[in-house]
Amino acid sequence: MSLFRVKPLARILAEGADSEHGLRRSLGPWALTAMGIGAIIGTGIFVLTGIASATRAGPSLTLSFVVAGIVSALAALCYAEVSSKIPISGSAYTYTYATLGELLAWIVGWALVLEYALGAATVSIGWSGYFINIWNHIPNVWQIPAAFANGPHWGLAGQAGVSGLANLPAAAIILVITALLAKGTRESGTVNAIIVTVKVAIVIFFIVVGIGHISAVNYHLPAGGAAGMGGYFPFGWQGMLGGAAFIFFAYIGFDAVSTTAEEAKNPGRDLPFGIIMSLAICTILYIIVVAILNGMVPFYKLNVAFPVAFAMNYVGLSWASIVISLGAIAGLTTVLLVMMFGQSRVFFSMSRDGLIPPAFTRVHPKWRTPIFSTVFFGICIAIVAAFTPINIVGSLTNMGTLVAFVLVSAAVPILRWKHKELVGKFKVPPFRYVVPIFWPIFWLLEKIPGIGAIVLWLDEILVPIFSAITALGLIYYLRIGNPLFYGFPIVWFWFVVWLVLGLIFYFSYGARKSNLVTRGSP
Ligand code: ALA
Repeated sequence: MSLFRVKPLARILAEGADSEHGLRRSLGPWALTAMGIGAIIGTGIFVLTGIASATRAGPSLTLSFVVAGIVSALAALCYAEVSSKIPISGSAYTYTYATLGELLAWIVGWALVLEYALGAATVSIGWSGYFINIWNHIPNVWQIPAAFANGPHWGLAGQAGVSGLANLPAAAIILVITALLAKGTRESGTVNAIIVTVKVAIVIFFIVVGIGHISAVNYHLPAGGAAGMGGYFPFGWQGMLGGAAFIFFAYIGFDAVSTTAEEAKNPGRDLPFGIIMSLAICTILYIIVVAILNGMVPFYKLNVAFPVAFAMNYVGLSWASIVISLGAIAGLTTVLLVMMFGQSRVFFSMSRDGLIPPAFTRVHPKWRTPIFSTVFFGICIAIVAAFTPINIVGSLTNMGTLVAFVLVSAAVPILRWKHKELVGKFKVPPFRYVVPIFWPIFWLLEKIPGIGAIVLWLDEILVPIFSAITALGLIYYLRIGNPLFYGFPIVWFWFVVWLVLGLIFYFSYGARKSNLVTRGSP
C-alpha cells in the first residue's frame, strides 16, 4: 500500500466533467467574486477584531491585518494557479491528491473540516453576539436569558462576553442555513448576492461615519492601568504577530471559491478571478475599518461580542450601531452559507474517492445537493457552536486553513514539474513582479554566467515558497494569546488530537476503501 499514491489527473478531470451525475453549473465570475466576499467579510472583522485588539495587539492590529493580508494574498495566488489547472470541487484536498499523494490529501481534507465546519461554528457565535444585541433592544419582547445566549467559556481567560450554558441562537442559525443549503445552490446563490451587497454597504457605512470620530490619542495611549504598556504596540511586536495569526480568520473564505469549481460555468478562467478579486476588495476594506475602529475606542474596551457596533455606541451614535448590527447579522449569514457549502463539497469529493463512506456522495434526486453531507454537518456544527468558546474554535479554524495553505503552496511547483501538459489560465507571477523592489537584483543576477538559469527558476518558485513559509509562521504565532495546556498551546494540542483521529480513520477505512485500491489506477 503506497501512502503517496496520487490520484491520476486524467481521472480527476474526467470526474469533474461528468456533469450528468454531478452538480448543477450556475456560477459566473462575478457570482464567484460575490461568493468570495460573502465568505470573507464576517466574524473576523465584525467580532474577532475586538478580542484581538483588547487581548493581543492593541492599536497595532492594523499592522496585524497587513501581515495576515500578505500571507493570504500569497496563498490566493497559489490557489488561483492550481484551481485554474484542476478546476474540480474539493479545493486544496483535490490539489493535494493530484500532487502530494493520498495521505497528505487526507490530512488536508481533514484539516479543511476545521476550516469550514469550525469556521461556520465560529461565525455563528459571532452572529449570535450581534443578534442578541439587537434582540435585547426590542422593547417588550422576551429577553433571551444570558445562560442560553452564550456558550460556556470552559474556564479559559480572555473570552468576550459572559460564560453561559449553551449558545442557542448560534445553533439555531446553523440549522436554518442547513435547511437553505439542502434545498439548492441557485436559491442560496441569489440570497448570497443580495446580502453581499448589503454587507459591503455596511462596511463602507462604518468607514464613512466612523472616520470623523477618531481620537488620535487612542493610537498611543499612555502606559498604565488597563492600557498596559500603552503606545501603538501595547503587547509588543509579538502581540502584533499573535494578532495577525488570530485575525487571519477574517481573510478565510477566498479559498472557498475553489470548492465550487463544479458549479462554475467556466471554472478555469473564473475561479482565479473570483479568488483574487474577492480577497483584494476585502483587504482594502479591512485595513481601513480596523484603523478607524482602534481610533474610535481605546483598545482595552473592545473585548465585547459586537465591537464594531459597540464603537458606534461608544461615540454616541446608537442609531448607527443598530444599522451596523442589522448589516452584520445579514452579512454573517452569507459567510455561514459559503462555509457550510464548502464543507459539504469537500466531503462530497472525499467520499467520491472512497476515502469516507459513500453516504456523503448522495445527491438529492430533485434538489441535486449533497443532502446527507449537508444535514450531517449541519447538526454537528450546531452542537459545536452551542458549547465551544469563540477563541478556541476561531483559532482552530485558522490552524486547519493554514495547514491547507502550506500544502496548496507546495502543490504549485509540483504540479508545474509533474504535469507540464497542464496549462491553466492563470500562473503565479515570478517573485520580482510580486515584490518589484527585487526586480533590479534578479535582473542583475540573471546576467551572471552559470547561475542565470537558477535565478530564473528561483524567481518562478519563490512566491509559493514564501506562501508556505509565511503560513507556517502564522501557525507558530497562533500560540500567542491562546491558553496553554500543560505548557503547550491549546490550539496546537487540539489540532494534534484532530490529526490523530483523522489518521486512525484513514488507516482503518480510507486507505483500504480508496478508489485507487478498489478500482485501481488507469
Ligand atoms: N473570513 C470569514 C469571517 O471572518 C470566515 O467570518
